[in-house]
Amino acid sequence: MSKLLIDGGRVLGGEAKVQGSKNSALPILAASLLAKNESVFFGCPRLSDVDSSVKILRYLGCKVAQDGHTLTVNSSTLGIDDIPEPLMRLMRSSIIYAGALLASVGSARLTFPGGCELGPRPIDLHLSSLKKLGAEITERHGELIFKAPKGLKGSKISLSFPSVGATENIIIAASKAKGTTIITNAAREPEITDLADYLNSCGAHIEGAGEGTIVIEGREHFYGCCHSIIPDRIVAATLMSASAVTGSEIILDSVIKSHLDAIIPCFEQAGCDVKFDKQKMKINSPKRLKSLGLIRTTPYPGFPTDAQAPLMAVAAVGEGITVFSENIFESRYKHVGEFIRLGADIKVEGKVALVQGVKKLYSAPLCAKDLRGSAALAVAALSAEGTTEIDTTEYLERGYEELDVVLSNLGASVKKI
Ligand code: UD1
Repeated sequence: MSKLLIDGGRVLGGEAKVQGSKNSALPILAASLLAKNESVFFGCPRLSDVDSSVKILRYLGCKVAQDGHTLTVNSSTLGIDDIPEPLMRLMRSSIIYAGALLASVGSARLTFPGGCELGPRPIDLHLSSLKKLGAEITERHGELIFKAPKGLKGSKISLSFPSVGATENIIIAASKAKGTTIITNAAREPEITDLADYLNSCGAHIEGAGEGTIVIEGREHFYGCCHSIIPDRIVAATLMSASAVTGSEIILDSVIKSHLDAIIPCFEQAGCDVKFDKQKMKINSPKRLKSLGLIRTTPYPGFPTDAQAPLMAVAAVGEGITVFSENIFESRYKHVGEFIRLGADIKVEGKVALVQGVKKLYSAPLCAKDLRGSAALAVAALSAEGTTEIDTTEYLERGYEELDVVLSNLGASVKKI
C-alpha cells in the first residue's frame, strides 16, 4: 500500500503536460480487438487501469508492446473469448469487452465488472442493448455468456439514460453488425467521439458521435491504424483545482478548451483567471477564493461527475456557500468525511452537499476511498497547514499518472512512500 505525504501551503508555478485520457484509452484498447492487425496508440497514459487492459488483451492472445506513452496492440492472434473473474474485477471498463468480443469472435464469457464503489453500478443498459443487436445472453452463477451465432445485426436502440459505457459497447458491437444501428439518447462525452474516431480510422462507419443520435453502418473488415488519445479533461480539472487552492499561476499543456466548457465557469466564479493559447491554458488564482455557486453534475456537455470531488476541495476554501448536486452516481460523496477531518464545513443530505468555505484547512491523516476522491484529497492537502498523509493511493494510480511527480514539478511538496 502506498501513501502520499503532502506538506501544504506552497505556492505552485510552472507548466505541466496533461496526460492522455484514461476514459478514452480503456474503451479504445477494447475496440482494438476488431482490427485484426496492429494499432498504434500515442499519448496512452501509464496507469494501472491501462495495465489491467493490457493484461486482458494479452490473456485474449493479443500482442501488446509498450514504449513510454506509445502502446501497440496486435489483435491478429486473438484466440479466446473468455475473461476470468480476477481480470474482470480489475475495473469497470472490462464490460466493454462484451461488445468487442461479440463483434470480433462472435461470443464472450465474462463476469460482472469491478471498478470504484460509487453506489450500485448496474449493467442492464449494456445487456439490453447487446440483446437488441442480436446477442443471446445467459447469466449463471455470476458468469455472463454472450453468443451471437448468426452474427450481430443493426437495430434501433434508445437509451433510457445516456450511459457512457453502454454507448461505447453499442458503438463497438454495431460497427461489425450487419446493417444500420441508430442510438438515440446516446452519451455525448468527448471520449465517445475519440472511440468513434479510432474505429472510423480502422474502417468503421460511425456518424454523429458527440451528439445525441449516433448512426452506425456495420462493416466487415477493420484494419489497425495510428491514433492519438485525447487529453484527460478530468486530470486538467484536478490540476486547475490545485492552482485554485494554492492561489497559484500555472500553465497546463495539452488541453482541449471545449472539453472544459462546463468546468471553466466554476473556476471563474471562484475568482480564477483562465486564458487559452491554442492547446495551452494559463490559470491564475487569487489568494482567497470565492464560492462556486451551484454545481449540478449531469451527462456531457454538463458538469462531469468525475470533477465533483476535486472542485469540492476548491469550494472548501472558497468564501461563502457552494452547493453540489450529484445526479449521476448514488454514492459519490465518500471524500466528504475526509475533507471534514481537514476542517472543512460540509453537510450532505441525499444527493446535495452544502459546502461552507473555511479560511484554512489543517492537515490530518486521510484515507482515500475512490479514484477521483483520492485526487481531491491530494488537492485539499496542498492548501492545508501541515503535513497530510493520504492512505491507499492505489486508487490514484488507476487514473493519474505520477500525480506526485506532476505536483512536485509544479513546486508542491509531495512525497510518495
Ligand atoms: C464512465 C466513466 C466514469 C464516469 C461516468 C459518468 C469510464 C471508464 N468511466 O463510467 O469515470 O464517472 O462514465 O460520466 O469511462 N447505469 C445504469 N445501467 C447501465 C449503465 C449505467 O443504470 O447499464 C447508470 C449508472 O449506475 C450511473 C449512470 O448510469 O448511475 C452513469 O453511468 P455510465 O455513464 O454508464 O458510467 P460508466 O460508463 O460506468
